[in-house]
Amino acid sequence: MEVITVANNKGGVGKTMQCYQLACHLANKGHKVLVIDLDSQANLSSTFGVQIQRTLIPEWLIGDVEAEEVVVASAGDEEFHHNISLIPSSRHLANLAKLLILSENEVRRNAGRKERLLRKRLEKLTDHYDYVVIDTPPMLGDELIMALVASNRILIPTQAQDYSIDGLEELMDTFEIIRETENPKLEFSIIPSMVNARRKIEKQRMGELASSFHITTPVRNLVDMQESISTKKPIFMLGSKSQGKKDYEALWASLNLQ
Ligand SMILES: Nc1ncnc2c1ncn2[C@@H]1O[C@H](COP(=O)(O)OP(=O)(O)O)[C@@H](O)[C@H]1O
Ligand SMILES: [Mg+2]
Repeated sequence: MEVITVANNKGGVGKTMQCYQLACHLANKGHKVLVIDLDSQANLSSTFGVQIQRTLIPEWLIGDVEAEEVVVASAGDEEFHHNISLIPSSRHLANLAKLLILSENEVRRNAGRKERLLRKRLEKLTDHYDYVVIDTPPMLGDELIMALVASNRILIPTQAQDYSIDGLEELMDTFEIIRETENPKLEFSIIPSMVNARRKIEKQRMGELASSFHITTPVRNLVDMQESISTKKPIFMLGSKSQGKKDYEALWASLNLQ
């Protein structure tokens, strides 16, 4: 079972898009996929057609409820949705930090430290899924730290703007700390996201980024990507003329996710 987290402490960079496309792509290739929505905005959950009143993710992490009580089926009609299970989010997840403080004794008993809670929970599911895909909120909080500790790799969608690149440095510092302390094998890939290559300044920023980090092939800023989300159809279902489909095919190949 490979655990992949999509992260960036900045919002609106295409994290949820990335999770949706990745989970559907892997499921379409026949893999069993568990999607975990760790963002209280629950955008990924609703893209999979699932809306719930109150998520039980905090209770699951602490060990009060088992996975069967939090996992639901994806609500899509197409065949590949049978391969997708989802742990949905809701607004209530915004209270996670507070709930973890209140449950300090349970946390210690179950995982030792709170950052290991998700990893502990996922260890029990190793035989059930081929991939776990985790969406995270746009901040360096408990959800993101837990996800980094539990993952094999992290995908970081990044826009070619100054603010995004500054935020990236903060994320990379956190990544290094997690690698040194809890998860030495954690790998990362930086994915240029929503790229408008005709803009000179973006091209220049990407060039600078590439001089410090290894970056993948880009995903462009395209109308058909927005269409994919609004129609709840992954980009591979769009016609062969779709530019987004081409970008994603190249991306999955470069990341060896087939
Ligand atoms: N490659 C793309 N081209 C065009 N629009 C995109 C692309 N990727 C994401 N979007 C749109 O940009 C917005 C932010 O993307 P989202 O995945 O929700 O970001 P995040 O999860 O990082 O906040 C959404 O409306 C989404 O549909
Ligand atoms: Mg999001």
